[in-house]
Amino acid sequence: IKENALKEINKYEKMDEIEKLRVKYLGKKGEITNILKGMGKLSAEERPVIGKVANEVRGEIEKAISDKKEEIKIIEKNEKLKAEVLDVTMPGKKIKIGKKHPITQMMDEVKYIFTGMGFKVAEGPEIETVFNNFDALNAPKNHPSRDMSDTFYIDENLLLRTQTSPVQIRTMKSAKPPIKIIAPGRCFRFDEPDATHSPMFHQIEGLVVDKNVTMAELKGTLDAFVKQLFGENTKTKFRPHNFPFTEPSAEVDVTCFKCKGKGCSVCKGEGWIEILGAGMVHPNVLKNCGIDPEEYSGFAFGMGVDRIAMLKYEIDDIRLLFENDMRFLNQF
Ligand code: PHE
Repeated sequence: IKENALKEINKYEKMDEIEKLRVKYLGKKGEITNILKGMGKLSAEERPVIGKVANEVRGEIEKAISDKKEEIKIIEKNEKLKAEVLDVTMPGKKIKIGKKHPITQMMDEVKYIFTGMGFKVAEGPEIETVFNNFDALNAPKNHPSRDMSDTFYIDENLLLRTQTSPVQIRTMKSAKPPIKIIAPGRCFRFDEPDATHSPMFHQIEGLVVDKNVTMAELKGTLDAFVKQLFGENTKTKFRPHNFPFTEPSAEVDVTCFKCKGKGCSVCKGEGWIEILGAGMVHPNVLKNCGIDPEEYSGFAFGMGVDRIAMLKYEIDDIRLLFENDMRFLNQF
């Protein structure tokens, strides 16, 4: 038995095989165990002799098995270390990191300028009430922007906001003047996508309401803003315009940051680019929000973030901003 056992133990190199041998010889029904169990049947003279030999053999097999197990453990450990060896001289794997989207960069820049002037950032939902998006903003019932062909309606009371101006309404209803906020966010209009139109786009709205707020402050604020955004020498021009929620209203043009007003591809040869809508808050809008227009006045402005990003980075197709092609995004 001993010779057989030692031969077998020598032959095998795996933990589970050695364990099987242990059971075969030393287990409850193992060969050695059986001999020791049968001792009772032996005569009194035989018993000590056989018992001694059997115990010795058991001891030797036990030792051989535990030695073998130790040996296997060391071999396995060495193999594992070999497999996990790390060559620190190998070239590293390049990790691709993301970048801020040009629209986010533009948003951050505009927010940074206005928060520096004391504006707080306000937000509103993209799903708005028809009341906040149109009625409270003094839009006549037959205003063309209310058309089904211009606006995404969810039902007769809800829509995807077409502008960030409803945040003006939410702010004035929930806070008392003085109010000084900007509201960045996504807007939606029923437009066929092409190089200059996207059904989803971004605006940043501004609103100031206080006692004795004048149009001179509106002009000064926007002038300071464009100088920070496009450069110290940028000039502004206010052109009369019409918005339902402001009176008087204006569109604001700036001298082209690229050709400095001489005419180039960015400003289409005109020397000026239009970047803002603005005006003095209409008394009806203040009234709709429970603010007395005899006591308070205000100004508001709104700009298309995508449009400004396109101008600044000279991007000629708005769709590029929403395709998320890394070859495009990595350029900014
Ligand atoms: N909401 C207007 C637009 O989408 C922009 C605007 C905002 C104009 C605030 C005046 C005042 O065209």
